[in-house]
Amino acid sequence: MAIIGKDIRLAKEFLQKGQLVAIPTETVYGLAGNALDEKAVLSIFETKNRPSFDPLIVHTDSVEKLSLLVSDIPEAALILAQKFWPGPLTLLLPKKSAIPDLVTSGLDTVAVRIPDHPLTLDLLRALEFPLAAPSANPFGYISPTNAQHVEQQLGEKIPYIMDGGECGIGIESTIIGFVDGIPTIYRLGGLSIEDIESAVGGVALMAHSSSNPQAPGMLKSHYAPKKPFFLTERNDFPVHADGFGYLLFDKYIEGIDQKNQRILSPTSNLKEAAHNLFAYLRELDAQSLSQIWAEPVPDNDLGRAINDRLKRAAAVD
Ligand code: TXA
Ligand code: MG
Repeated sequence: MAIIGKDIRLAKEFLQKGQLVAIPTETVYGLAGNALDEKAVLSIFETKNRPSFDPLIVHTDSVEKLSLLVSDIPEAALILAQKFWPGPLTLLLPKKSAIPDLVTSGLDTVAVRIPDHPLTLDLLRALEFPLAAPSANPFGYISPTNAQHVEQQLGEKIPYIMDGGECGIGIESTIIGFVDGIPTIYRLGGLSIEDIESAVGGVALMAHSSSNPQAPGMLKSHYAPKKPFFLTERNDFPVHADGFGYLLFDKYIEGIDQKNQRILSPTSNLKEAAHNLFAYLRELDAQSLSQIWAEPVPDNDLGRAINDRLKRAAAVD
């Protein structure tokens, strides 16, 4: 059973031995292991039941250390790194051979980021190696945004969970690659397109699907609760039956028991909605309900990333 605490020395000891530790970040909790140790990386895939074709993100604490991991940092990448790191941004950069192929699923780029959480930054500074860390959930399930979420699902499988409280942002990082030097969004996330464009001008959006080899791991069905989950405008919800749960943007549906409803942001704030999204989805999934119905949120700013997660949660393949 995992120990839960804030002991960086203990976390470091486990990681040095090749074991896994759950780490808090500003986006979601990560399941971390030594990114340069192939055995530790393999156990990340095993612990999550993650298919080996879905590459991992490597976390470090400085651009200086990054230069040991990647062979080139294009100018647009440097601008983004300087503006948004530490923060909810992941960059795809050409990898050096120090990074095992297992981490990148054989690709010649590696996903890297500097997360914005004081405990995890302190841990990264104390380590001689970077941390490979996917979200700390079983493959395909909802990402964890507090230490208890991690404990519920992976507590039996890992020795230590670093408790950094609730994740501030609550959805995963935005992933950006460079296609012919043009910043291209591979995954919408905690940094909005608006923010990225303000730094580097236009960005392209990678069309992703489970069959698109350009975007490995961008499986349609993901972030999904165990219960049947549907996404549609509230006017199209089916006639209300007992035992349905509802995930709503900013107001309750009249005439339905409020305990079966979750309001992502009563003040219509997309940041607050992102922060609550995964925790509320878990709560509804844990209640005795037969189905969960969600409505999309406004499709701008962080709303795009929220809608992306809702669509994937509702996808069937
Ligand atoms: O916010 C986050 O990014 C969190 C925290 C823990 O940092 N991590 C996270 O990792 O969301 P994960 O494993 O759940 O998602 C990583 C995704 C992969 O599914 C894949 O789509 C993409 O990153 N990825 C990683 N390496 C890639 C590469 N070389 N090329 C394209 N996509 C890559
Ligand atoms: Mg994930």
